[in-house]
Amino acid sequence: MCGIVGVLGNHEVAPILVESLRRLEYRGYDSAGIATVNDAGQLHRRRAVGKLANLSDLLVHDSLPGKSGIGHTRWATHGAPTTDNAHPHRAGPVSVVHNGIIENFRELREELAAKGIKFVTETDTETVALLTQQHLRQGMDPRTAVEATLKRLEGAFALCFLFDGETDLMFAARKGSPLAIGHGDGEMFVGSDAIALAPMTDRITYLEEGDYAVITRAGAQIFDAAGAPVERAVKTVQMDAARIEKAGYKHFMAKEIAQQPTVVGEVLNDYVRGDKIVMDLGGIDFAKVERLSIVACGTAYYAGLTAKYWFEHYARLPVDIDVASEFRYREAPFAPGTLGVFVSQSGETADTLAALRYTKGKADKVLSLINVPESSIARESDVAVEIHAGIEVSVASTKAFTCQLATFAILALKAAHDRGQLDDASLAAHLADLRALPGLLSHALAIDTAVQGVARKLESARDVLFLGRGQMFPLALEGALKLKEISYIHAEGYASGELKHGPIALIDKDTPTVVMAPHDGLFDKTVSNMQEVMARGGRVILVSDVKAADKAAEGVWQTITMPDAPELIQPILYAVPAQLLAYHTAIAKGTDVDQPRNLAKSVTVE
Ligand code: F6R
Repeated sequence: MCGIVGVLGNHEVAPILVESLRRLEYRGYDSAGIATVNDAGQLHRRRAVGKLANLSDLLVHDSLPGKSGIGHTRWATHGAPTTDNAHPHRAGPVSVVHNGIIENFRELREELAAKGIKFVTETDTETVALLTQQHLRQGMDPRTAVEATLKRLEGAFALCFLFDGETDLMFAARKGSPLAIGHGDGEMFVGSDAIALAPMTDRITYLEEGDYAVITRAGAQIFDAAGAPVERAVKTVQMDAARIEKAGYKHFMAKEIAQQPTVVGEVLNDYVRGDKIVMDLGGIDFAKVERLSIVACGTAYYAGLTAKYWFEHYARLPVDIDVASEFRYREAPFAPGTLGVFVSQSGETADTLAALRYTKGKADKVLSLINVPESSIARESDVAVEIHAGIEVSVASTKAFTCQLATFAILALKAAHDRGQLDDASLAAHLADLRALPGLLSHALAIDTAVQGVARKLESARDVLFLGRGQMFPLALEGALKLKEISYIHAEGYASGELKHGPIALIDKDTPTVVMAPHDGLFDKTVSNMQEVMARGGRVILVSDVKAADKAAEGVWQTITMPDAPELIQPILYAVPAQLLAYHTAIAKGTDVDQPRNLAKSVTVE
């Protein structure tokens, strides 16, 4: 979602701001802008709709001098993506960039309107600039004015302020949306995340909930929500450029798909030693857990849904699973002995975070599967288990999904062992299966060329169905989600057995059906469903293994053949064809693979 940068530098700041915004492009945006204070103390701004290239072009013709500045990439929430609605917003001497939502902005607008104040945008952010301007007019200095403004704001947000006449002053505030302060040599920076600041500094302070900071080139003074000065640690973060470059791949998504054998290997290295699972769960004892309540959004939810099959099958542990946006308002009661489990790559998803806050104090404990250790979800959980995917830049989640699955598989086996459902020998056998995963994933990546051929045929489809049964059902949902989000082809995932209960009406020669069916205990049942599709003139793309492909290939339109694999790891392995199918179809259609329209990487609004 929106990206924020701020720089109090020693050089012209406009190119630095644009470059930093480029590093935040992965978050998704539809307009961008910067504001600077020049050496004479004058505040000016430039904004443009669309990609950052439009802002850069504008700056070529209409440059923006100054060594202090703020910048923003906007993902529209209040008001269309227009130049007027683009950040930075300005009210007289105040300029502000904002991520998140000011929930009481209507009330604040009415209050300001009653004083005769006019609005030039449809955004919630403009009220922040106007309120601060009002406070300055009452004689407050910039710091007191910002403090007074912050006290009036409700919602989840990160803000950065700049003032006309102030060449060495910036304010940053965090409530709900993360914000990082970067420390340079005689320079200071602000960024939505450390990635934005990577070329300038690796010394980062993360603001905590409710904190605000008064920043000059000499450093940052941080205050907590009550206004008391606080010390926040300066951490050195590993943010080397190679991790956030395409490294020769055409897209981040291609790079991230290809990284899966390595990152899944890291999950195994961290949590499996020989025949044992070594995972610090902060005292959570699965033998005493009665029930799991898994909550997440999107792809992370599908990882949780797959885990439900594993926990119930291997550990005989009942699992409830919900999408966070529903769960947060459902007021679900918790049975004694429930462990709340939250899954989030970004660790900042607003709905998942709100669901976690609802669960705390009601469930026995809260455990999360996270990729960003400094994230809000990681910090607010009793136990945060890292999935080790590394930075995921492409909006469509790929390697985070397989790392979530690998981590869940290990957790489910641990639960099974702790609950006496798996003896040492069976655990060792399953861990050996898991250890084969990186090799099998590399092997599976070799289907790339075959998938390209299938994708060229899928490109012209308007609708696509994905079918899966048992632990492959969540993968059918994930395959459909990946395809629709990056190729814009309408796709739906169904449990194979549900076909007859409605979706079969959609089957015709123009609606291809992708069947995810390795040779498992349910294979013959899925083949029957596949026959039902073909009997109605439907065209089937069968994704299956060597064992099964021969058995069921007759009448199938296209086959993608996967390596044979033990049952536990099949959903992890079959993520690869689901991802590649979406990727190559998007390439064939010429869509923006890494930054699909309307989507954001980190969904910090509900
Ligand atoms: C799909 C995708 C999204 C995310 C979802 C949750 O490719 O990336 O569906 O999985 O927005 O995001 P996190 O995991 O950051 O909470």
